[in-house]
Amino acid sequence: MPRLEVRAPTLDEMLAVRELRLEELYKPLGLTTPYESDALVDAAQDTIHMAGLEDDRVVSTLRVENHPSFGHYVNLMVTARDRRRQGLGRKVHDAAEMLVRDAGASCLTLHAEPEAMGFYENLGYRETGSLAVGIIGQVVILCPKMKKELA
Ligand SMILES: CC(C)(COP(=O)(O)OP(=O)(O)OC[C@H]1O[C@@H](n2cnc3c(N)ncnc32)[C@H](O)[C@@H]1OP(=O)(O)O)[C@@H](O)C(=O)NCCC(=O)NCCS
Repeated sequence: MPRLEVRAPTLDEMLAVRELRLEELYKPLGLTTPYESDALVDAAQDTIHMAGLEDDRVVSTLRVENHPSFGHYVNLMVTARDRRRQGLGRKVHDAAEMLVRDAGASCLTLHAEPEAMGFYENLGYRETGSLAVGIIGQVVILCPKMKKELA
């Protein structure tokens, strides 16, 4: 098994991060290109990126943006299909969480795709009771808002 390295991706590695998102997050939802706003949020100085790399291959990634309404907001979390359920997503999330906590944040917020809720519950998130309606192409998804306190 290749050794996993978890760290912030370099600028070059961000290309592989975007490719992973496109192939395994967007395309399964019917989107063939990323949202235009993604590039802006990616480039924002206060956005945190984390990636799991195996032999230079990006196998898991997420970002934490400084959202005007939600504060430290986790999104675009994805693990390569052939590497899921092997603990990579948790390791990448834990590394990002540590950075955010060290920077003084009190909680993390996200909107979960319904199939990913069990994953986030495992990581300590709880539903807050509100929903976001995601309209992706022709598909409407109800995404529960979830929150993790970083006490
Ligand atoms: C959700 C996703 C990122 C999880 O990544 P992963 O690398 O497979 O997760 P891990 O293996 O680190 O899982 C951590 C824990 O959550 C559990 N888990 C993982 N996916 C789960 C799911 N869909 N439902 C319930 N539990 C899940 C694991 O069994 C593990 O539990 P354990 O620590 O008790 O053994 C991955 O399935 C994925 O990329 N899905 C498609 C994209 C997506 O939906 N992203 C979320 C958008 S909101």
